[in-house]
Amino acid sequence: MTIKKTRTAILVSGRGSNMQALVEAARAVDYPAEIVLVASNRPDAAGLEWARSQGLPTASIDHTRHATREAFEASLQQTLDAANVELVALAGFMRLMTPAFVESWRNRMINIHPSLLPSFKGLHTHERALAAGVKITGCTVHFVRAEMDDGPIIAQAAVPVLGGDTPALLAERVLAAEHRIYPVALRLVAAGLARCEGEKVSVSHDLKASLPLYSPNL
Ligand code: GRF
Repeated sequence: MTIKKTRTAILVSGRGSNMQALVEAARAVDYPAEIVLVASNRPDAAGLEWARSQGLPTASIDHTRHATREAFEASLQQTLDAANVELVALAGFMRLMTPAFVESWRNRMINIHPSLLPSFKGLHTHERALAAGVKITGCTVHFVRAEMDDGPIIAQAAVPVLGGDTPALLAERVLAAEHRIYPVALRLVAAGLARCEGEKVSVSHDLKASLPLYSPNL
C-alpha cells in the first residue's frame, strides 16, 4: 500500500545534523513525510552541501542579499511554493521570522530547540542549564509561534546533567536525543497524529509508556 507523504522542507543555517536525521528517517517507505527541499539562508551552510551530496533539491536564499526581513521571506515563500511544500521543519535555522510569515505557516511549521521548553529559550541553553544547576535537561520539538522558541509542544526528550559536564559535553548528549526525537515528532505531525488543540498538542498514537528518568540515578 502506498501512503500519502506530506511534502516537507527543512530549513538549516549550519551543520544540519538534525536535517540529516530527518532525511535518513524519511527514507523508510512507510515514513509519512517526504523531504522535497532543503533550504538555507547561508549559502555556505555545511548542511546544504550534505543535502546536495544526497541528490536532494536544495535552495540557498542568502539573507544578506535581501534588504528587509520581508523581502527575504518573500523569496523563501516563493521557493516553498515552487516545491509545493506543505510542512516546514526548522533544523538549526538561525533567522528570526516575522509574525506574518510565522502566522502564514501556523501549525505547519515545526522547530527543535535544545532544552526542555519553556525553560531556557534562546541561545546558549547548555551554558545556562549548567549555571542553573538543573539535573535534567533535554530537547523539545514544537510548532512555531511568533515568539522565539515558543509554541505548542509536540515531543520532548530528557537527558541527565552529569557531574563534570561542560557545555560541549552536554550539547553532545542532548544532540543525540535530538536526532532520535525529531524524526518521531515529524512522523507524528506529517501523519496527522499530533494536532494542535488550542495551544496544546494532543497525540493520538499508541505510544509506549516510558520509564521516568532519574538524575542522579536511584
Ligand atoms: C540543534 O541543537 C538544534 O536544537 C538547534 O540548533 C542546533 C542545530 O544543530 N535549534 P544541527 O545544525 O541540526 O546540527
